[in-house]
Amino acid sequence: DGEFTTVADGVLTMGTNAAFPPYEYKEGDQVVGIDAEIAQALADKLGLKLEILDMDFASLITAIQAGKVDISLAGMTVTEERKQNVDFTDSYATGVQVIIVKDGSDIASVDDLANDKIIGVQEGTTGHLYCSDDYGEDHVIAYTNGATAVQALLQDKVDCVVIDQQPAEEFVEANDGLKILDTEYVVENYAAAVSKDNPALTAALNKALQELKDDGTIQGILDKYIKA
Ligand code: ARG
Repeated sequence: DGEFTTVADGVLTMGTNAAFPPYEYKEGDQVVGIDAEIAQALADKLGLKLEILDMDFASLITAIQAGKVDISLAGMTVTEERKQNVDFTDSYATGVQVIIVKDGSDIASVDDLANDKIIGVQEGTTGHLYCSDDYGEDHVIAYTNGATAVQALLQDKVDCVVIDQQPAEEFVEANDGLKILDTEYVVENYAAAVSKDNPALTAALNKALQELKDDGTIQGILDKYIKA
């Protein structure tokens, strides 16, 4: 194992987009949630302090490449395309792309998305990518984050929102008149992204992550935030 370096000495700097509960959201000035707690546990294992920077989801990979942050934990899905630009640690959770509609919507399943619907997504996410590929750019409106996409749905600016399941459940619980369709669009794996120039950090994070899986810490954090 080689030595790893970090952007700031003794600090693990993490980028995220804190509009994605329960993975990351704001409580006052503080970013809290599953990813914040997992990152804190990883930083503790590595003997580092944790600092979290909140930014647009679409800026995270560039921030890693530019050396602004060491890692990103953001409910980020591992994809072949992203792997060209960053390395990923082992996965720590599973995500599912689901569809949110207003009560009374004529969209009942994934198949109905093909009927000239306008789909709201979070910019730069896998949902954005898949919907653009499957239904065409003209049928997709990208918002800077999931919360604003859901606001657009409430205001009838879009016919549905495609987003990860756990935030979808939080948004539906927080707003009247919305529901999640009982169909899974895509299943994916979440992992931390790290610079390709820092393989020693990825290796150290994987070792720490394995220990945190083995002693039940990761499952404990997931269970604390995700209702069965
Ligand atoms: N899992 C999706 C992706 O990786 C969405 C993640 C959005 N995360 C966030 N913190 N806003 O593209």
